[in-house]
Amino acid sequence: MTISLPNPASASSEEVKPTKKILCYGSPYLAEFYDIWIGLWDDTAFYSECLSQIASHTPPSEPVVVLDIGAGTGRITHALASNLPQHIANVRLLGLDMERHMLERAATLTDPAHADKISWVLGSACDLESVPAFRDEGLRADMMVFACGSICHLNVPGQAEQLFRGIASVLRPKTGKAYISVLKGGSSDNGVPDQMMTKPPPAEFRSRDFKDIIYRDTTTVLEVVDDIWHNTRHIVVSRVLEDGSERVVEDNIAEVKAKIWTEGELRRIAKAAGLRVVDIVDRHNDCRDELIFVFEVDV
Ligand SMILES: C[S@@+](CC[C@H](N)C(=O)[O-])C[C@H]1O[C@@H](n2cnc3c(N)ncnc32)[C@H](O)[C@@H]1O
Repeated sequence: MTISLPNPASASSEEVKPTKKILCYGSPYLAEFYDIWIGLWDDTAFYSECLSQIASHTPPSEPVVVLDIGAGTGRITHALASNLPQHIANVRLLGLDMERHMLERAATLTDPAHADKISWVLGSACDLESVPAFRDEGLRADMMVFACGSICHLNVPGQAEQLFRGIASVLRPKTGKAYISVLKGGSSDNGVPDQMMTKPPPAEFRSRDFKDIIYRDTTTVLEVVDDIWHNTRHIVVSRVLEDGSERVVEDNIAEVKAKIWTEGELRRIAKAAGLRVVDIVDRHNDCRDELIFVFEVDV
């Protein structure tokens, strides 16, 4: 499904919304706020290079198919589209996410020159077989990306198993590769990066896209219980009025329960699904370090 552009009225409504519990991507404002927050994750050149290598193995008669799982506002997909190597003549970029507002922003940010190559697909990482390009057109993915540690969102038992079974069934055997990023643990032994265990001071950001909008972000909960990192943030969206006073537009309680994945767990679940680890890339980004597990179908 290629989704339509958002109705701007939904983002600029002056109606004050009651306090809402959300994941943290659940409104047009929060989709923009995500982009402000993610800013410094510099992984896109890495994935473009991977695509360049993988594409040389795709049969010339078929499109090179890339699935960006948890595509969000399209950071990775847009970068891949902008940096396509010349030898890739025919490419299909599929950006999959379960949050409509993230995909609507992704669609809004799409360069018109790339629009014919990209589909934004509303759906679940746990049901990859239902992506129309795979289910209805019979395509296979040459490359899959689940970037910047987002597999942590699969925190319910059984979800990762569904993800890996889906990868195994839609990834092109022999040449297809799936890149799954996991955040690299910090100095404590709880598997969580040090920055993520330090409560940041309350922060304020001006919107770049919505006139007179300010975001205020206060972390209220930051703890690890068993293998789940709990992070609750109070994200208030306010509009600055002409007289300088402010009106709250959204009052969000963003609760993230992020599963801390270990290498052993990932290997075990992937193996059971029929995948094998062919590489683990240790990447240092400006903001966080990650390990990118590279999987192939175990033929
Ligand atoms: C940290 S953001 C990453 C966005 C983008 N890939 C990037 O690198 O900037 C995580 C994204 O994963 C999506 N997500 C989380 N769980 C998902 C699931 N089960 N199925 C599909 N998308 C999911 C969220 O909606 C969110 O947009």
